[in-house]
Amino acid sequence: MCGIIGCAGDDGDMVPTLLNGLAKLEYRGYDSTGLAVSGSDIRVVKREGDLDELVGTVDSEFDRGGAAGIGHTRWSTHGKPSDENAHPHTDCAGRVAVVHNGIIENYQLLRDELQSLGHEFESETDTEVVPHLIGHYLDTGLARKDAFRRAVEKLDGSYALAAVFDDHDEVMATKKDSSLVLGVGDGTYVASDVTALVGHTDTVVHLHDGEFAFLTEDGYTIVDESGTPQSKTGTEIEWDAESVTKGSHDHYMRKEIHEQSNALRECLRDRFSTGDSVSLDAIEDGYRPESVHLVACGTSYHAALYGAKLLRKRGIQAQAHLASEYALSPPPVRDGALVVGVTQSGETADTLSALRTATAEGARTLALTNVVDSTAARECDDALYIRSGPEISVAATKTFASQLVTLVLFALQSSGQTSDETERLVSALTELPEHVQRLLETTAAPTTARRFADSSGYFFIGRGVQYPVALEGALKMKEITYEHAEGFAAGELKHGPLALVTEDTPVFVSVVGDDETARKTVANAKEVKARGAPLVAVTDGVSSIDRFADEVLTIPRTNRTLAPILVNVQYQLLAYHTADHLGRDIDKPRNLAKSVTVE
Ligand code: G6P
Repeated sequence: MCGIIGCAGDDGDMVPTLLNGLAKLEYRGYDSTGLAVSGSDIRVVKREGDLDELVGTVDSEFDRGGAAGIGHTRWSTHGKPSDENAHPHTDCAGRVAVVHNGIIENYQLLRDELQSLGHEFESETDTEVVPHLIGHYLDTGLARKDAFRRAVEKLDGSYALAAVFDDHDEVMATKKDSSLVLGVGDGTYVASDVTALVGHTDTVVHLHDGEFAFLTEDGYTIVDESGTPQSKTGTEIEWDAESVTKGSHDHYMRKEIHEQSNALRECLRDRFSTGDSVSLDAIEDGYRPESVHLVACGTSYHAALYGAKLLRKRGIQAQAHLASEYALSPPPVRDGALVVGVTQSGETADTLSALRTATAEGARTLALTNVVDSTAARECDDALYIRSGPEISVAATKTFASQLVTLVLFALQSSGQTSDETERLVSALTELPEHVQRLLETTAAPTTARRFADSSGYFFIGRGVQYPVALEGALKMKEITYEHAEGFAAGELKHGPLALVTEDTPVFVSVVGDDETARKTVANAKEVKARGAPLVAVTDGVSSIDRFADEVLTIPRTNRTLAPILVNVQYQLLAYHTADHLGRDIDKPRNLAKSVTVE
């Protein structure tokens, strides 16, 4: 979704700084870009399409200096992708330029009022009312800061805003329900997320809703809604500059798939106290929730489904909910209920909204997230970090694996049960990073992907803990190949989806061990095979499935609860290699955004 970068100072190297910041924001998903640099006039350049379009234009048309600048990657909500709708937007007299992330809900009303006062609009966006409002207050004689604050007071909706003015060396910023972070290095920076500031600064400060930040080359000041100065402690950035590059890989997604064993090691580090007892510092020892609601979107929802199954297995009432549906009809929050927001970014608008609903209903909340000090982490009662490191590719990979492992740890700690099964699970957890590594070195997924790359659709089936990864396997496939893919509970196949199965729709089935669940899944796989569909089994080789599957992708033998993590690595590789074969834009799939900051 939209990304903001702003900078004051930076030794007059403003344009390269902004372009560099925009490149780091690309991963959020966008369809147009732009930047504005202050001087005696504000210079604005914006283009529909890739950042390269902007770079080409800037190189040929733009004076690169300037003391304050803002840049933007736009993901369209109001108005199609076009040069005119790209940000920054300016007022009629070109005195102020603004970039915005979020949605101004009352923009039509404001636009009508401003038009009746003679303001002329050039775009279809909700954002353009903001510079015109600021311009309106400048016309009434207000100073720049006051005009900015008065304009913001008129806005309903969600926003992160940054603005520069003509003949003025300051960047102004504010936010509501959309994230902004500040940092100081060679210059003073503001950005939508920490990733854009990695390499510029070691410490960031999060702006809170209603606060205003004023950036100059000497640093920044923050005031609250009433204008009272605020002092804040920064959070250290733990990610290094190398971790936000592709390294030797062609795509971030491939790099991140290959980072999984290290990510899991990091996730498990220091989280066992003695033997099989888990110790998560986010949750006090002995805490036993009566019931758990997990709220999440996309890949994180699949992790939540897995987490709910695990918790129920350990005797805790638990249910996963799509965050976008949760707020509409929240289940009753009884005493002792815990609501867990599973969110990689910690910034997904629907998940934040569900968590806020839960707080209003009186539930205790926990953010299970990757991003330290993200909005979810700050707003929830507690934050449990999955420790994956930065994930740039839009399609989530390593963070899903780390979410599942963190949920296993959470289920172990919050159920407080110890048993032989717990001991086996803990021992399998410690071996898991090694298994992932071995799988990555031996996988046959590239060959299987090539064989089926021209199919008309893909189905993924699984039972029990394998069901969430069937959904996730299909999601990964559709996200980056743009081909039709669906995941089903294996038992549901004959209640409808079987009608879709043909010789041209490979079915991927995961079968682990040889217990009753595995045997039932094998029976479902036979039903598929009998109808002529190619069958690909992802299996540890214990059941009979490899005797009749057309292709077999092997996973190392492990505890059945953890096997979905290994199955999923094969599914990630299948999706990756299919998309690569089809020539898709793997890291930035069309229409999608990494961080979805509007509901
Ligand atoms: C977007 C991303 C998905 C992600 C979902 C939830 O749709 O493209 O990959 O799973 O948001 O994001 P979150 O940060 O809350 O896990």
